[in-house]
Amino acid sequence: MENKTRYLVTSALPYANGPLHIGHAAGAYLPADVYVRYLKMRGEEVVFICGTDEHGTPISVAAEQEGVSPREIVDRYHKIQEDAFNTLQISFDNFSGTARKVHFELSQQFFTSALKNGFIHEETVKRPYSVGAKRFLPDRYVRGTCPHCKSPDQRGDQCEKCGKQLEPHELLDSYSILDKQKPEMRDTKHWFFELSKFTTPLKKWITEECNHWPENAKHFALGWINEGLTDRAITRDMSWGIPVPLSHAEGKVIYVWFEAPIGYVSSTKEWAEKQGKPDLWKHYWKKKEGASTRIVHFIGKDNIAFHTIIWPATLLAEGTYNLPWLIASNEYLNLEGQKMSTSRNWVVWLHDILAEFDVDAVRYGLIAINPETSDCDFNFTEFKEHVNKELIGTLGNFIHRTLTFIEKKGGTIPKHATLDEDDKIILTLMEKAPDEIGQLIFDRKLKAAQQKLLAVAAAGNVYFQKKEPWKGKESNALYICANLTASLSVLMEPFLPESGAKVRSMLKMKDGVRWEDAKKPLITGGHKIGKIEALYTQIEDEDVEEFKKKYLSGKKTGETKVTATEPKKEETKAAITYEEFAKVEMKVGVVKTVKDNPNADKLYALTVDVGEGADRTLVAGLKGHYTKEQLIGRKIVVVANLAPAKLRGLESKGMLLAADDGQKVVLVSPAEDISVGAKIR
Ligand code: 2FM
Ligand code: ZN
Repeated sequence: MENKTRYLVTSALPYANGPLHIGHAAGAYLPADVYVRYLKMRGEEVVFICGTDEHGTPISVAAEQEGVSPREIVDRYHKIQEDAFNTLQISFDNFSGTARKVHFELSQQFFTSALKNGFIHEETVKRPYSVGAKRFLPDRYVRGTCPHCKSPDQRGDQCEKCGKQLEPHELLDSYSILDKQKPEMRDTKHWFFELSKFTTPLKKWITEECNHWPENAKHFALGWINEGLTDRAITRDMSWGIPVPLSHAEGKVIYVWFEAPIGYVSSTKEWAEKQGKPDLWKHYWKKKEGASTRIVHFIGKDNIAFHTIIWPATLLAEGTYNLPWLIASNEYLNLEGQKMSTSRNWVVWLHDILAEFDVDAVRYGLIAINPETSDCDFNFTEFKEHVNKELIGTLGNFIHRTLTFIEKKGGTIPKHATLDEDDKIILTLMEKAPDEIGQLIFDRKLKAAQQKLLAVAAAGNVYFQKKEPWKGKESNALYICANLTASLSVLMEPFLPESGAKVRSMLKMKDGVRWEDAKKPLITGGHKIGKIEALYTQIEDEDVEEFKKKYLSGKKTGETKVTATEPKKEETKAAITYEEFAKVEMKVGVVKTVKDNPNADKLYALTVDVGEGADRTLVAGLKGHYTKEQLIGRKIVVVANLAPAKLRGLESKGMLLAADDGQKVVLVSPAEDISVGAKIR
C-alpha cells in the first residue's frame, strides 16, 4: 500500500442502556462528526466508526431493574440511539454492536493472544458475594464510599466524583444493589491483565509521541502512570458477556472495559465486510498493513483512563496493532448551571430536542458551547440567542438576502464588470477562509472554527449593505455575494450539513465539491439558480417555555423539588367559576393493559376503557409507584376532554388523576364500585 495518511475516527461506544442526551452529543459525537466531515471534504481517506457497548453491568442492571432480558434492553436502545444519531446527521460509516459474532471472535482472540504473549495470569481472589441472591456481585451491583475521595454512594466500577477506576471490593461501606445488604467476601478465580508491565512503554509513548493530545488526557494518563499501574482483573462472574475462551473458565465473561474498545476494530471489520473487502480493516488497524493510519478516538473525559492506558496496553499486549494517534477528549456539559442527572430528569434527551428544533439549530447551538477545554453549560436562553442572532441573524440572513435578491432579478447570476477594492476584499476573505477554518477544525477548536464561519457571513452582510444592490448597480455585488454564498455552503458542511446541502441545491451547484473549491468563485455569470426556500426556523420564547414544560421537569415522579437546593412552593391557583370547572369532562375508566414507554424511564402507556366503545391510550408517569399488575383492572378517573398530547413520542388521549404529596403518587379511584363511563361531577 502507498504511504498516504489515512484516518480511522471513532466515537465512544455508548452503553445500550438508555437514550442519548445532549451531553453525549457534545462530548463524543458532534465534535467527531465535524472533524470527519471536514477531513472527507478535504479528500482524505477516513472511516468513521461507532456502535453500541452492549455488555457489562450497565446493561444487566438495567435489564434486572426492568425485569426483561439484557438482549431486549440492548436491542431497544441500539435502535433508539441509532435513530437519534441519524436525525442529528452523525455520519458514521458503520454503527455496530458488541454483542455481535464478529466482536465475540475478535475479543476472544485478543484475550488468547495477550495470554499467550505472557500478559495475563490466573489468580484466586476474594470478591463481593450476595448470600441472598447466591451470586457474585461484579461492578455496578455494589455501591459504597469511594476509597480515594470518600464520596458516598458511588458505583463499584468508577467514582463519578473523582473519576478513579474502582473495583467493587475496594468500596467502603459497600452494599448490594439487589438487597441493600453488605456483601460477603468469597474466593473466586479471575484472570488478571498485567498492566504493570506496560509502565515504561506507555510513559515513553505518551511523553514522546502524544504531545498533541488535549491537556486533560495527557495529565490524567501520566498522573496514573506515576501513581503506579497495577494488574487488573479482566474477567467477571456473570453470564451476560463474552465467555472467557478457556475450558476451565465456566461462568466467567471478559470484563466489558477490556472488550468494548475492541468494538472499534470489530465495527471496522464489519464495515470492511459490507464493502466486500474483508481485509480492508487491516489497513487501518494493523501495524504491518496500516502503518500510515492515524487512529483518533473521540471520548468524554470519564473515558480517559481506558483510552489512554488500558486500551493502548491491550493493543501492545496483542502485539500486532497500531496505537491510537490522538485521544480527543472533551469535558462535560452541564444543563442550566447544574450537572445533568437522568434520575432527577434534569436532562435534555437528544430525541426530544431534535423533535422540536431544526437539526442544524441543535448542531449549531451545541458546537457554540462545545466543552473543549473546560466544562460548559447548556442554557436555553443562550441556545435561542445563538440560533436567532448568529445562525439565522447573520449566516441565514446573508444567504437569504442574496438568494432572494437574485431570484427577484430573474434568478440568473449576472456577469461581473471590473472588480473594485471591496469585491477583492471579499475574494481574499474567501481565499483564506477554508485554510483558517480547516486548521481550527483539525485542532478541534470547533467553537472558534464555527465563529470564523460566521465572521465570513458577517463580512458578506457588511458588503451587501455597502454595495446597496437594490439601487441598480448590482452586477458585481450579486456575482460576489452568490459566490460567497457558494463558498459558505461548502464551509458549512462540517457544522451544518443539512442547510449547507440545501444552499448548494438552491444554487444548483454540482455534487462532489471539495473543501479547497471554496477558495475560488464556484459560480460563473449566466448560471441560473433554483427555487429558494427558508433555511431555519426562528426560536421564540414560547418554544423554549413549551420545551421546558414538556420535557424538563427536573423532578422525579412524585418529587416536589425542582432544584437540588430550594424546595419550590406550590402555587395557589386563581379562583375559577363553576362554568369554567364544568368544561372539564371527567369519567370513570378501567385500565385494560399497561406497557413500558420505550422512550421514557418513568412512563407507562396504558389502554383504558372509559365506556366509549374503543379504548384510549393514556401515557402516565406511574412507573416506580405502581407495578403493571397493580394497575391492570383498576378503576381510575380520567380527564376525557383534554386535548391529545405527545409524551416522549407516544400520543396520550386524556389524563388520569392522581394525588401527589411530594413523597407519594396515589391514583384517584371511585371509593365504591361504579360502572365504567360514569361521570364525575
Ligand atoms: O462510557 C461509556 O458509555 C462506555 N460505554 C464507553 C465505551 S468506549 C469504548 F471503549 F468502547
Ligand atoms: Zn472518588
